[in-house]
Amino acid sequence: MPNYLVHPTQTVGGTIRVPGDKSISHRSLMLGGIAEGVTEVRGFLESEDCLATMAAMRALGVRVERTGPQEVHVYGNGLKGLRAAGHALDMGNSGTAMRLMTGLLSGQPFDSELIGDSSLMRRPMERVAKPLRLMGAQIETLEGKPPVRIKGGASLQGIRYELPVASAQVKSAILLAGLQAAGETIVVEPAVTRDHTERMLQSFGCELSAAQGEVKLKPPARLEACSLDVPGDFSSSAFFLVAGSIAQGNGLTISGVGVNPTRTGLLDILALMGADLRVVNHRTAGAEPVADIEVRPARLKGIHVPEHLVPLAIDEFPVLFIAAACAEGETLVTGAEELRVKESDRIAVMAEGLQAMGVECEVLRDGIRIQGRTSPHVFSGGTVHSHGDHRIAMSFAVASLRAAQPIEIIDVANVATSFPDFPGVARAAGLNVELK
Ligand code: S3P
Repeated sequence: MPNYLVHPTQTVGGTIRVPGDKSISHRSLMLGGIAEGVTEVRGFLESEDCLATMAAMRALGVRVERTGPQEVHVYGNGLKGLRAAGHALDMGNSGTAMRLMTGLLSGQPFDSELIGDSSLMRRPMERVAKPLRLMGAQIETLEGKPPVRIKGGASLQGIRYELPVASAQVKSAILLAGLQAAGETIVVEPAVTRDHTERMLQSFGCELSAAQGEVKLKPPARLEACSLDVPGDFSSSAFFLVAGSIAQGNGLTISGVGVNPTRTGLLDILALMGADLRVVNHRTAGAEPVADIEVRPARLKGIHVPEHLVPLAIDEFPVLFIAAACAEGETLVTGAEELRVKESDRIAVMAEGLQAMGVECEVLRDGIRIQGRTSPHVFSGGTVHSHGDHRIAMSFAVASLRAAQPIEIIDVANVATSFPDFPGVARAAGLNVELK
């Protein structure tokens, strides 16, 4: 089992880039596969999660060529051009891949089965199966979890569905099914979640409107292939936004990062904590906003994280907890029960690691209370377990910037699901991450 040994360093600096956005890379393969023509994707994230989606689309008959570093061409088969894979599709560690594929496959004429690794096999799938059944899909889960079995040949009907949980994956699964349904599909969100599916569908020529928490989709006659530039993943930049805030140095710049406002809740949360962040050089990559982010060391203070920001920062909480441990006073996170059903139970697993390194925290049903400290050494160092969760592993690597002793992080193989060269990029920024 690969581990990290992270030696304490105190300073970060320079300019780095993070790899392409995971959410957008998944979607580019799925929509490209059912479009007409060749979709060219640049900045594609070549991580295990997205390669699982690539393998699945290939198994469904789509030609996908890797034409260069971070570049793929997807030869679309049209809305009705997928074919049976003939075997179970293994979505690896990726909840996004499994839930979105469930939507994509629910209106196909053939049967499909979706499986994944031990973490994914424990994650809730009824949240997508339920609304898709209301559309007419025939889907089975095993006590709410994978394998997900989809019976082919269902004729889908558009629905109006009010999401019980704020989830971009559920919203996207319904929209992907809606592409193949009769009539309009409307998804009502209880809170704003990432809107990459909506933006990309429009890039593919689909008629869609989004206003006041309602997304309306008219089933298109066809999707037109397009050219996509994938921005750097804001969620991967998050580790360095916190690193730059809690370490010493003259500042760190992360260039070419996606700053879609449905993703950047961490910027608002860190600003409330007193972080010194500047978003500069605003530009666009197709339908997505992009910028460079500059971060300088700051004296952070603890806050009660506003609950409306939780869905906008949903993947950034593990590393936010590291920032909270380095802030003056208490940080309180509530309304974040969704963290318990991510790649791991991120509340329990982060609390375990924080406590193992001497940070005082209290686990709540829907969040956590963390007692921060401003001393140079907030974390004792020692051994922490990632429980196979990529974002937990990378978050504890960032903690090394304020650790007294080296931190050994157990089971880091899954970092490759989202950020294949994390140790290299982290070293370029000034961390000392060794893969053991
Ligand atoms: C994602 C949505 C979020 C997020 C995940 C990626 C997406 O999940 O946590 O990493 O690409 O749609 P939920 O929809 O479960 O909140």
